[in-house]
Amino acid sequence: MPPRSDETRFGRRRGIGVDTQAWCTMSEQPSRTRRRLLQTLGAAGLGALAGCASLDGPSQDGDTPSITSKTPPADPADYEATVRAASGTVQPGGDLASETWVYNDQFPGPELRAKAGDVVAFELQNELPAETTIHWHGVPVANEMDGVPQVTQQPVAGGESFTYKFRAEPPGTYFYHSHVGLQLDRGLFGPLIIEESDPHVEYDREYTIVLDDYLTREPQPLFGEDSFGSGGMMGTQRPPYAGLLVNGRSAADPAVFDVREGERVRLRFINASSATLFQVQLGGHPMTVSHADGRPVDPVTVDGFQFGSGERYDTILEATNPGTWEIRATPLNGSEPPARAAITYDGVEPSSPVGPSQSNNLLSYGDLRARSPLSGVSGNPDRTFDLSLSPGGPSGQWLIDGQAYPEADPLQIRSGEHVRVRMTNQSPVPHPMHLHGHFFQVGDAVKDTVVVPGHMGQETFDFVADNPGDWLFHCHNLYHLEAGMARVIEYVD
Ligand code: C2O
Ligand code: CU
Repeated sequence: MPPRSDETRFGRRRGIGVDTQAWCTMSEQPSRTRRRLLQTLGAAGLGALAGCASLDGPSQDGDTPSITSKTPPADPADYEATVRAASGTVQPGGDLASETWVYNDQFPGPELRAKAGDVVAFELQNELPAETTIHWHGVPVANEMDGVPQVTQQPVAGGESFTYKFRAEPPGTYFYHSHVGLQLDRGLFGPLIIEESDPHVEYDREYTIVLDDYLTREPQPLFGEDSFGSGGMMGTQRPPYAGLLVNGRSAADPAVFDVREGERVRLRFINASSATLFQVQLGGHPMTVSHADGRPVDPVTVDGFQFGSGERYDTILEATNPGTWEIRATPLNGSEPPARAAITYDGVEPSSPVGPSQSNNLLSYGDLRARSPLSGVSGNPDRTFDLSLSPGGPSGQWLIDGQAYPEADPLQIRSGEHVRVRMTNQSPVPHPMHLHGHFFQVGDAVKDTVVVPGHMGQETFDFVADNPGDWLFHCHNLYHLEAGMARVIEYVD
């Protein structure tokens, strides 16, 4: 049987072949393919399939999706904003000025803030000399609003615009960024906050803290003929950065956050870097983690946390130790000096910020207990993907289960299924793996991005297939994504 061509609306999809010999051993066969095969094989095919009864997921006949596709809300927008992508000058302090691409002449882009349940409409105006899109990282929007070129939309050409409309839910700390090529590493990102009406932690004020790895030149892919030979496997991980920034500021002219003694201050940390794993600590204060990737957790007090590109943690600072203190974000996979910002207490004489002391107690995923665990992911999954993460290919690509996107098979699921993804990292470097369109359960936490540590590290997550469409699943190290570390998760019913 010839391979089935599996062109999508936007092209760029590798066909999948159906091999009748291998049929019973393939645990991920969708009903659509199965029906097609049955039509071809006739009665003989039915016999051949008789021993494979367990192949089907919850919707036995597969003809009626058990869950309908989300559509963008029809109601008028409660909150509208324009996000204009254009060239601009960035001045983080010190000698780090550069001409790059930004949103609304700001770096990071403007904080977009909506109330939970609001209908939002964000108009992307593209004034770049290139195509672009915006992805709303972590928000389970309708598929056509997800901003992934070739997968959910045609990229927006220079001079054109596109309005992203979705319901702002659930509440949480998110960010938005370009999903085209390496544009995120130029400066096309900004925070997106969906406010809770009834937070489970009390606080008197809040700040958003966006961490970034910053280049003063145009980002270049790290795979291809030269990179593998010259830098070796470690060299393909990230470029040398000019600086590490907090809210677009370098340590030479740092961001400053004012607090008053006695206050409780919510700090929303967003790792918007393109390739950096950070360890975050505060001088003079522990941190109480209240949310992981926007999802509320039972508060847990630690000396600090580590997070990868795409992850977010909200913490509560109890302002009980007057002084001038440092927020320090140390790169764990780079040698640049840490990103630094300052916390200053009202009425305290300015002095140079005091950094964190040694940390014995760093957050681990096992410390996170979601206040609302996902339902539908207990018990045995309907479908499991076992995926290796590895370098490979002739030009130093990054592979998921031996394939480099876009020359990679989609991972096929059906609506309503409980899907498990097990990842084994066969490389020495960490991979922050992000799933679009869904939250997943990892241990007792609910997240959308999880770091799989290097050297045979493993992570497993479970999700419910409750948002039909084609969704990207990928490493949030942009250089790995560009080098193939992605798959499309495709609903086939
Ligand atoms: Cu921040 Cu594909 O995502
Ligand atoms: Cu990676």
